[in-house]
Amino acid sequence: MSEVIIVDDEAEASKIVSDLLVKSIIKNPELVLGLATGSTPLGVYKLVAESIKEKHVDVSGVRGFALDEYVGLSKMHQESYHFVINSNVTEPIGLTPENVHVPDGDESTIEQAGAEYEKLIKASGGVDIQILGIGTDGHIGFNEPGSSLSSRTRIKTLTEQTRLDNARFFNDVDEVPRHCITQGIGTILEAKHLVLMAFKSTKSKAVADALEGPISAFCPASALQLHPHTTVFIDHAAAALLKNTDYYKWVYKNKPDWQGW
Ligand code: PGA
Repeated sequence: MSEVIIVDDEAEASKIVSDLLVKSIIKNPELVLGLATGSTPLGVYKLVAESIKEKHVDVSGVRGFALDEYVGLSKMHQESYHFVINSNVTEPIGLTPENVHVPDGDESTIEQAGAEYEKLIKASGGVDIQILGIGTDGHIGFNEPGSSLSSRTRIKTLTEQTRLDNARFFNDVDEVPRHCITQGIGTILEAKHLVLMAFKSTKSKAVADALEGPISAFCPASALQLHPHTTVFIDHAAAALLKNTDYYKWVYKNKPDWQGW
C-alpha cells in the first residue's frame, strides 16, 4: 500500500519532496532520478535548484531519466520534453547534460527508441527515485488507460483528453502531437521509490481510482498499488474522493521519526 500524505498545499509537498531529493543526492552523489514533466513537479525542481546552490552540493554525478517525450517535435521545440527537462531541471540544478536522458521522439528512429532507452536505464543501475504526476485520465508517464501494466518504453497514442489537458502549453490544441514515446508501466514499477504528487480537484477522480480502485489497465496509476515503496502527496482538493482519508491522516500523524521516506 502506498503511503498517502495529505498536505495543505502544493508548496508543502514540494518542500518535503525537494528535501528528500537533496538529502538523497548528498547520500548518493550518483543518484538516478526519474523525472516527470508537466506542471506538478515544477515547484520541486525549483526548490532543489535553490537548495543545491545554497548547500554547494556536487551534482556532477547525478543521472536523470525523463518519463516521456512527444513524437515528431524537434528537440529545440519549447514544448518538447528535451527542451522542458533542460530548462526546468538540467540547467537550473546544474546537472551534467550528458547524464540526463529523454526518450527520443524522432519519427525516423522511433521503432528502436524504446528498446534503446530501456538499455540506458538498465546500464545506469535503475532509477532510484521516480517523480510522478498523474493525468486526469489516470495516466502515469504517457501510459493512457488500457496500457499494459507490464509495458516497456514504447510509442503510444495520446487520448483527446490528454491533448486537451496539454493544449495550454501550445498555441492551439491542433499543435499538440498525437503520439508520444513513454516509459512503460513495467518500466516505472522497477524504480526503487515512486513519489507521486497530485494537486487540485481535477485530479480527485484519478487519485481515488489509482489509490482505492481496483488494479486495472483502465486506470494506469492503479499499478502503483503493486509497488512496495510508493509515497503519494496530495492536497485536500485532490484527496476529496478518497474513502480512507482519516486513516491516511492518522498514519501520517503517527509516522515514526526513524521511518524516513
Ligand atoms: P500536470 O500533468 O503535472 O501538468 O498536471 C500530469 C500528467 O499529465 O501526468
